[in-house]
Amino acid sequence: MSPRPVLVVGATGRVGGAVLASLRSREVPVRALVRDPRALTACEAGLEVGRLDLRDPSTFADAVAGAGRLFLVRPPAIARVGPTVNAFVDAAVGAGIDHVVLASVAGADDNRLVPHHRIETHLRAAGVAHTLLRPGFFAQNLTGPYRQDIRHDDRLYVPAGQGRVAFVDVRDLGEVAAQVLEDPTGHVGAAYELTGPEAVTFDEVAALLSDALGRPVRYEPATVVGYARHLRQGGLPLTQTLVQTVLHVGLRRGDAAAVDPTLGRLLGRRPRTVADVIADHTHLWRPED
Ligand SMILES: NC(=O)c1ccc[n+]([C@@H]2O[C@H](COP(=O)([O-])OP(=O)(O)OC[C@H]3O[C@@H](n4cnc5c(N)ncnc54)[C@H](OP(=O)(O)O)[C@@H]3O)[C@@H](O)[C@H]2O)c1
Repeated sequence: MSPRPVLVVGATGRVGGAVLASLRSREVPVRALVRDPRALTACEAGLEVGRLDLRDPSTFADAVAGAGRLFLVRPPAIARVGPTVNAFVDAAVGAGIDHVVLASVAGADDNRLVPHHRIETHLRAAGVAHTLLRPGFFAQNLTGPYRQDIRHDDRLYVPAGQGRVAFVDVRDLGEVAAQVLEDPTGHVGAAYELTGPEAVTFDEVAALLSDALGRPVRYEPATVVGYARHLRQGGLPLTQTLVQTVLHVGLRRGDAAAVDPTLGRLLGRRPRTVADVIADHTHLWRPED
């Protein structure tokens, strides 16, 4: 009998994609769960792909059938987690999943406003073994949300003032998640705050980008209103615009400045720095690409 696969929610996304890559490099059997399976089957030879829409409970039973463990992430567009993410947890537990790794967010235990808090609470109530990963601010915001500003306008435009940020590399999160999913021994019930190894300002990030790209990239501190307008002009829905603006203003106060040694301890090496992330992705910010 073949081993039961690990389910990976959000497998086309940044965190889920990193978890998928790490599990595959460890040769752990995986079922990638996506809304549109064609998004993965075309480029991932030999990968088991299942359909999951967290807003459509009729997709849950097939998605979880026969699976062993679950990697879970809350898609940014989903704010109401009760009928979506938490209902999916119930389906997975009902199907016999024996361990869940949740990509949560730093501070989710104390912050009732973030949806992750309600998922964490639900996991505890569901009685399933689980591990909570609570990452800080993603370095991959540079390759995702900030990419076009850097690429076309040579600027970082966020309302973060001179706040320091302990950027964490999503690939490191993927490695830790895969490690726990492969063997949860010693991680059951644990909650890990995960940050990068150093805290830098956006001026320092701009200097690193300038060096790596060979052209000047500047940090332009945005006002709250200016940033919200910028996100809306980029097509972000209103709710996510408000969430992103509040999160970035929190950076001014140092909300993401604390460096936590846990990630390095779990990886057994120094976590990647924001300079590493920049060096590995320079092609994404070339205007011509
Ligand atoms: N950005 C940060 O600095 C930061 C820091 C800490 C924590 N977080 C948390 O990390 C999470 C974001 O992770 P991410 O960056 O990997 O997000 P992402 O890149 O936007 O990926 C989201 C994934 O969810 C999938 N998805 C969207 N709607 C879905 C639905 N209805 N049913 C099933 N799948 C759906 C998407 O798949 P398709 O669209 O392809 O279907 C995609 O694979 C959020 O919970 C956020 O709060 C973010």
